[in-house]
Amino acid sequence: MRLQGRVAIVTGAASGIGRASAQLFAAEGARVLAVDLPGKGLAEVGGTAILEKNIADAGAAQTIVDTAIAEFGQLDIVMNNAGIGVNALAEATTDEQWQRVLDVNLTAQFRLCRQAIPFLKRSKAGRIVNVASVMANGTDYGLAAYCASKAGVAGLTRTLALELGKFGITANYLEPGAIETGMTKPLWDARPEVADVWAKKSALRRLGQPIDLARAALFLASDDGGFVTGHGLVVDGGLTLRV
Ligand code: NAI
Repeated sequence: MRLQGRVAIVTGAASGIGRASAQLFAAEGARVLAVDLPGKGLAEVGGTAILEKNIADAGAAQTIVDTAIAEFGQLDIVMNNAGIGVNALAEATTDEQWQRVLDVNLTAQFRLCRQAIPFLKRSKAGRIVNVASVMANGTDYGLAAYCASKAGVAGLTRTLALELGKFGITANYLEPGAIETGMTKPLWDARPEVADVWAKKSALRRLGQPIDLARAALFLASDDGGFVTGHGLVVDGGLTLRV
């Protein structure tokens, strides 16, 4: 029960990493506001409260934090996990694609952190866990917008860590490698050879599972990670070891 008495917000909680994290946080005693888009099956997650909301909407951050406070009366942990991918060469990336990825993957994270800060300051152990990617550092063809958004998450989180440390708040980001989730599974089911390449590239010779990331998120969100801040935790099974 490492999160007993804590209140957490987890975005993108209907699927993949967010779902596993919301479930693990709840199992560890947290009261969790699970947030995701309407119609994504949030009700089945088993979080203690749910909110169907597009995190990129104007005013979404306020609605999310207000809901957590109305439901639970406090806020200790913000896990900004919801994210989207886009695959287009830079030359072919439209303004609309660029903006949508930045809005969901970066701006929404910033806004939710900003909205949560006054409440995290009141917490005994305020925690921000933002989900970036190994693509915050690396890249691949077609990932200009995605990589830019994830590198932005790293910069945002480091700065939050610096500014909020004196209030006892930690801010860290996860860098998942190749994880089998709603984002990747349809692609890998259609082309198993691609999944195989990712699996074999990692030192541990397997794809990551959502629970691998949830456990890392729990470490950062709990007292176990209390002296870790401004850190990008790579959870990739050794995918990025080789240069
Ligand atoms: P997923 O697609 O299984 O889950 C993402 C969830 O976010 C979905 O339930 C989706 O509905 C929700 N979401 C998307 N846009 C939203 C919006 N505007 N408002 C509210 N909810 C929204 O994908 P996964 O893999 O679990 O992704 C979680 C995070 O992990 C993302 O930030 C992603 O970029 C990151 N990541 C994933 C990797 C992978 O291999 N799966 C690798 C590196 C990073």
